[in-house]
Amino acid sequence: MSRRDIDLESEEPLVRGGADEPERRSEASLRPTSLGGFVGQRDLVGHLEIVLGSARSRGQVVDHLLFAGPPGLGKTSLASIVANEMGSGLRITSGPVLTRPGDLAALLTDLHDGDVLFIDEIHRLNRSVEEVLYPAMEDRRLDVLIGRGPSARSIRLDLPNFTLIGATTRTGLVAAPLRDRFGFVGQLDLYDDDELTTIVQRSAGLLAIEISAEAALAIASRSRGTPRIANRLLRRVRDFAAVNEIAVIDEVVAVEALTLFGIDDLGLDKLDRRILSLLCRQFSAQPVGLVTLSHACGEEAMTIEDAYEPYLLRAGLLIRTPRGRLATDRAYTHLGLRPPGGGLV
Ligand SMILES: Nc1ncnc2c1ncn2[C@@H]1O[C@H](COP(=O)(O)OP(=O)(O)OP(=O)(O)O)[C@@H](O)[C@H]1O
Ligand SMILES: [Mg+2]
Repeated sequence: MSRRDIDLESEEPLVRGGADEPERRSEASLRPTSLGGFVGQRDLVGHLEIVLGSARSRGQVVDHLLFAGPPGLGKTSLASIVANEMGSGLRITSGPVLTRPGDLAALLTDLHDGDVLFIDEIHRLNRSVEEVLYPAMEDRRLDVLIGRGPSARSIRLDLPNFTLIGATTRTGLVAAPLRDRFGFVGQLDLYDDDELTTIVQRSAGLLAIEISAEAALAIASRSRGTPRIANRLLRRVRDFAAVNEIAVIDEVVAVEALTLFGIDDLGLDKLDRRILSLLCRQFSAQPVGLVTLSHACGEEAMTIEDAYEPYLLRAGLLIRTPRGRLATDRAYTHLGLRPPGGGLV
């Protein structure tokens, strides 16, 4: 099951996805539309400014770009920003949707000069589709096989100048020949509390929510380094304030609302706590392999690795050793348990 499937079916839509249609639309309305409005990821934004500025000054299309990073950090937003900044058309598709080479060929031949083609989850493209992409990226040509058997012949189509933008939750999963054909690979990292506070305040402004700086920080610090989660928690706090007829959201209201929705003071949800609890209790401080962990908590290994571990690692709650995952002392303390041996990790 992919992470996106989980988004749709998640039991905990508040935190990790499950956005219904209005929420999806609201997410789209919160997307920054220019590099200047994109909070954080300073190095990456700086590099992009150079890449885009140079293409603009040469009057050429931007080189193919690959954005990598955990879910909800702004890969799709960046793709639409690139198209905006270049004044280009944007076509959006995703790896799993392109099942046959013909699907991609149809999309490519429909592009106009200067267009941006965004392929989300590009690591999930199947091999035969990927092979169509190589000459399209490199020489902007498409080799189409017409007919079958001995009478089959190949014709070559020239494609317009276009920019491919790929997004992936992990660069390691993108086949090397594909990765090498991107002119620029941008890695997105989890956001810090200051950046997320700015994002919460910006979104609150767009949604006409009155919120204090302390309340914005309270939401930010429980957002697991992820803007999408920050925006979602903000909407839940807004709901709580609305039903309680509270006009201005302060820290007490924000914390009360988040606690009500099961978000603890580190922003962990049920599955985060389950992962840590398994490591601390069931496996009694032994290193645990990803597959074992995935079976034990009933979640896909890839989802654990992509969507849960980055934050648990960064928050210093979990470490990865060559023999497997271990919970840290901080994890024990967070769960109200005593660390083994008074502090081994
Ligand atoms: N740097 C940012 N500044 C402000 N808002 C942001 C930023 N990055 C992301 N967001 C917000 O977070 C939401 C999610 O971002 P986006 O959809 O671009 O993430 P993504 O990396 O494509 O996620 P996925 O891997 O799940 O496709 C956006 O709707 C946007 O409102
Ligand atoms: Mg996306």
